[in-house]
Amino acid sequence: MSKFAVFGHPVSHSLSPRIHAAFGRQLGIALQYEAIDATPEGFFEALEAFAASGGAGANVTLPLKESAFALSATTTQRARRAGAVNTLARLEGQWLGDNTDGAGLVRDLTGRHQLDLRGRRTLLIGAGGAARGIAPSLLDAGIASLFLVNRTPQRADALADALADPQRVHARHLGDLRELGEFDLVVHATSAGRGGGMPQLPRSLLGMRSVAVDLSYGEAAIPFLAWARAHGAHRVIDGLGMLVEQAAESFALWHGVRPHTDEIYAELHARHAALVTAD
Ligand code: ATR
Repeated sequence: MSKFAVFGHPVSHSLSPRIHAAFGRQLGIALQYEAIDATPEGFFEALEAFAASGGAGANVTLPLKESAFALSATTTQRARRAGAVNTLARLEGQWLGDNTDGAGLVRDLTGRHQLDLRGRRTLLIGAGGAARGIAPSLLDAGIASLFLVNRTPQRADALADALADPQRVHARHLGDLRELGEFDLVVHATSAGRGGGMPQLPRSLLGMRSVAVDLSYGEAAIPFLAWARAHGAHRVIDGLGMLVEQAAESFALWHGVRPHTDEIYAELHARHAALVTAD
């Protein structure tokens, strides 16, 4: 039976083992998929031990996505553009690093939520691994512009430089958001929600057409999405659909076939959706 795992810290709450088990059952593919807690310092060793025990592939979550990029022998183009890896596949004794987060997000927004991303004036809040993972895919999906803000402005500047699309990508200071007017799409990609908070944002970002997206799900998505709903966002969407879609993309890389996602999404949504997205 082939062996897979998700590495993170913390990781015990991860839904990935359940999602991959459901995909395996759906397609009649026997697999083992476990959650392995690893700190950034212990990640390399833990991954080597996993490979030595027959590990064929792994997902990587917080805070290890940039480390995973660094230790991949080869990377896909989309992982290089993101500078972060969320999916590893063992090939000829080495790790291939891929990033399925952006494809997962775009698939969730355009497929499940029927959003047309083309031409959208977009704000991305955060410049860590999560933001890096999805920014290239939003640009590829045809958004009109991408404004980047981050608590540490230098990281927003660095991400803007890395995206190399100066016509559409603009780094700004959080404190200057009031001057930027309304956005069609506001994507929250900081980790502040995991501590129950969010960056301070002006309500002038949101108008009647605005869609607010949080890359987290469950409780971590509540502060930003509740704020967005209270301040007039037209729609609010959490990251549960992205989680399921990025898992399906990883599964396709490992097994050569993409599973259907509606059933497991519905099951997880019933339990784990941020309460503010329940309608
Ligand atoms: P992730 O992979 O979740 O993006 P990360 O790479 O550690 O994790 O990045 C965390 C992101 O959340 C960063 O953009 C971080 O801002 P800094 O670059 O200034 O550290 C942001 N973040 C975390 N806690 C925050 C808070 N309380 N307020 C605002 N931004 C926060």
